[in-house]
This record gives sequence, C-alpha cells and structure tokens, in this order.
Amino acid sequence: MRRLHTHQHLRQHLRHPLAKWTWVACSLVPFVYLCAGVWWDRLGPNPAEALIRASGDWTLRFLCITLLITPLRITTQWPEWLLFRRSLGLLTFFYACLHALCYSLLDMSWEWDEIAKDIVKRPFIAVGLACFVLLMALAATSFNAAVKAMGATRWRQLHRAVYAVAVLGILHFFWMRATKRNFAEVWLYASLLGALLGWRVYHFTKRSLWKVS
Ligand code: HEM
Repeated sequence: MRRLHTHQHLRQHLRHPLAKWTWVACSLVPFVYLCAGVWWDRLGPNPAEALIRASGDWTLRFLCITLLITPLRITTQWPEWLLFRRSLGLLTFFYACLHALCYSLLDMSWEWDEIAKDIVKRPFIAVGLACFVLLMALAATSFNAAVKAMGATRWRQLHRAVYAVAVLGILHFFWMRATKRNFAEVWLYASLLGALLGWRVYHFTKRSLWKVS
C-alpha cells in the first residue's frame, strides 16, 4: 500500500509542469560549465580539443538517456516518461550541434574546403557527419505539426533512425580512438547502447510471439 502511494507521488512529480523544465535546466549545466571553462580559461592546454571531446561525450550521454525512456515507460508502465522524450532528443541534438560547431569553428576555422578534405581524409569524420544528418532529420520532425503532416506510421518509421544514430555514433567514437588504441570508454558506451537496443529486440520479439500464439 505504502509502495503504491510512493509510486503515485513520483508519477505526480513527473507530471508536474515544472518537472520537464527543471530537467532541461539541469541538462544545460554541462554547457554552462564548458562556457565557464572558456571564460576563465580552465580547459587545459588545448581548449579546442577539450571542447570538441566534451561536447561529443555529452551527445552520446544524452543519446543513452533518450533511449532509456521507452524501457522505463514499459517496465514501470508509467506513460509520464514520454513527457520527457522529445526534450531529451532535442538536448542530444543541441550537444551534437555544439560538437559540430566547435569542430568547424575551432579546428577548421570555417574553411569549407578544408572540412570537405577532412571528411575524405578521415573516415571517422564522415561517419560523424552521417550521424549528425540523421539527428537533424529527427530533430526537424520532432514537432507535433510534423507528426500530423507525415502521419503516425511514417513518422514512427523515420524515428527508428535513432538506432542508426546509436550505431554510427559508436562507430565514429571507435574509429576516432582506433589510432590511439584507447577503447575503454568506447566499450562502456557500446555496452550501454547495446543493452538499450538489445532490450528492445528482446521485448518486441517476445511481444510479437505472444501475439502470434
Ligand atoms: C558533423 C558531425 C561530426 C563531426 C565533424 C565530428 C567530429 C569529431 C572530432 C573532430 C572529434 C575529436 C577527435 C580528436 O580529438 O582527435 C570527435 C570526437 C567525438 N565525437 Fe564527433 N563529430 C561529429 C558528430 C558526432 C556525433 C553525432 C556524435 C554522437 C552521437 C559524436 C560523438 C563523438 C565522441 C563521443 C567523440 C570522442 C570524445 C572523446 O574522446 O571523449 N560526434 N568528433
């Protein structure tokens, strides 16, 4: 009885109009921290590299948190988690934009021909770009008007591209670290994303088997 009460209390908190905005404000703390690092020159000897790496890490972290929503919703059976999904996806995109911006501005000084050459020369950049283009398509169609215009089925099909984003993001990270032979964090994120995608495969095949039998 007491547990049920706590659950209802928690769900009420999740439904509170301020809950989402509190979470968005917390999610911007890494961004503010990085801005403060630039302002007070606290990013170490190579600030450009520190910014590119930190924003890449945060993109991957928010991708993991976004992909956690569906398993949370299904295992707890609380639809309230869905209230957070779009803003989490957009926060992932926000950090990806920051990452791409830091790279183009700080590493490449906005030189488009240099960027084009780099894409050809370093395949991990091409993979990052492909990942970013997919994220852009998802962010652009994340609004209610887009769902309406596309129809729910086509919208859902397009948004399955988030799984390709996860795979490309890991490949980008793996390839970047391959020259340095430093894979510890790559395995960590690959296992996290693998578990989140594996859970879906397990859950949805189990559910369709149930439907058949
Ligand atoms: C336009 C697209 C992108 C470009 C041009 C790009 C470029 C880069 C560059 C230049 C680095 C640093 C390499 C180094 O310091 O040696 C990097 C690292 C990284 N990128 Fe990207 N990237 C892109 C998209 C993405 C996306 C969409 C994600 C995530 C889903 C991502 C995740 C990462 C991660 C995790 C790292 C490694 C950070 C670390 O070492 O801690 N990148 N990227």
